[in-house]
Amino acid sequence: MSETFKALLLEQGSPQPEAQVRDLAIEDLPAGDVLVQVHYSGLNYKDGMILQGLGNLVRDYPHVPGIDLAGTVLESEDPRYQPGDPVVLTGYRVGETHWGGYAQRARVQGDWLVPQPEGYSARQAMAVGTAGFTAMLAIQALEDRGLQPDDGEILVTGASGGVGSIAVRLLARLGYRVTAVTGRSENTDYLQALGAHTVLPRDELAAAPDKPLLRERWVGCIDSVGGDTLAHVLATLAYGRSVAACGLAGGPQLQTTVLPFLLRGINLLGIDSVMCPAPRRRAAWSRLAQLLPGADLDALTTEISLDDLPHYGERILKGQVRGRTVVRLD
Ligand SMILES: NC(=O)c1ccc[n+]([C@@H]2O[C@H](COP(=O)([O-])OP(=O)(O)OC[C@H]3O[C@@H](n4cnc5c(N)ncnc54)[C@H](OP(=O)(O)O)[C@@H]3O)[C@@H](O)[C@H]2O)c1
Repeated sequence: MSETFKALLLEQGSPQPEAQVRDLAIEDLPAGDVLVQVHYSGLNYKDGMILQGLGNLVRDYPHVPGIDLAGTVLESEDPRYQPGDPVVLTGYRVGETHWGGYAQRARVQGDWLVPQPEGYSARQAMAVGTAGFTAMLAIQALEDRGLQPDDGEILVTGASGGVGSIAVRLLARLGYRVTAVTGRSENTDYLQALGAHTVLPRDELAAAPDKPLLRERWVGCIDSVGGDTLAHVLATLAYGRSVAACGLAGGPQLQTTVLPFLLRGINLLGIDSVMCPAPRRRAAWSRLAQLLPGADLDALTTEISLDDLPHYGERILKGQVRGRTVVRLD
């Protein structure tokens, strides 16, 4: 009999897909040139959407979700990877159009993998995951526009979430003065422990600005909220400064005017982690491993099992999950 493994399988359902932990066979896996034993996956906002069947992200069922995975190569037709190699995968629409990391085995393309960063375990790599990788890309984008630690206050919205928590920690490690915005005042101590200098209530920035330009407050921003919060940030960025737009936890619409762009020369920088080119991907991972030691990650990580995923998928969409959540597969 062929080898079986456990996976969270989504079947088409109405109004949302039905999730069940099932035993699958290796032959059930999609095509790919590397077979990976998955040790850990992670939970991102997008995983929450996929578990709930939102955003039309999954077209074909049955489906194994999980946009991130970390594990060990079992078989490889890709000369860059050998059995025993520890690897990490984020993006490339794995967990959306290709079966993902919520399974003890995954078959993927070697092109999608990066070697597990030196110094990280599989669990720690998934504590970073797509969220932390995106936070690193956002910081790099702001630095590419000239941002430096002693420039002034930098804003992080959705700060208690995955992207937000890791952005706060990374910026603090780099010596930036961070203002964290949260809708959950009970997370104030947590955010200060991550390195936030100031914690602001979400309400202060949640409304669309009543004028195109407000007082200049921030030398940069990492935004995972979008919507009116992003419109507010645009009106309050200091002259010539940039916001890295990462997410839409507060909504995908953006209603603004061009005036902050024309009169203050500000920049709206788009951040995409999914199709990020390989050289930038590897550079971001190696910088993450340097800046965020395992102990930093443990402080913001919750561990769950495959069985817990449907519940946590609902919670992340309601903004009830703090920091990063890793999914244990072994
Ligand atoms: N561009 C990319 O490649 C990329 C990659 C990763 C993630 N993302 C996007 O980035 C966003 C964050 O992802 P994540 O995995 O970090 O999710 P997450 O852990 O759920 O974090 C989102 C945070 O936003 C805040 N929030 C939630 N609902 C809100 C609302 N209605 N209005 C205002 N703030 C709200 C909450 O923080 P507080 O409670 O502290 O306010 C929440 O913890 C998502 O939209 C995700 O799709 C994009």
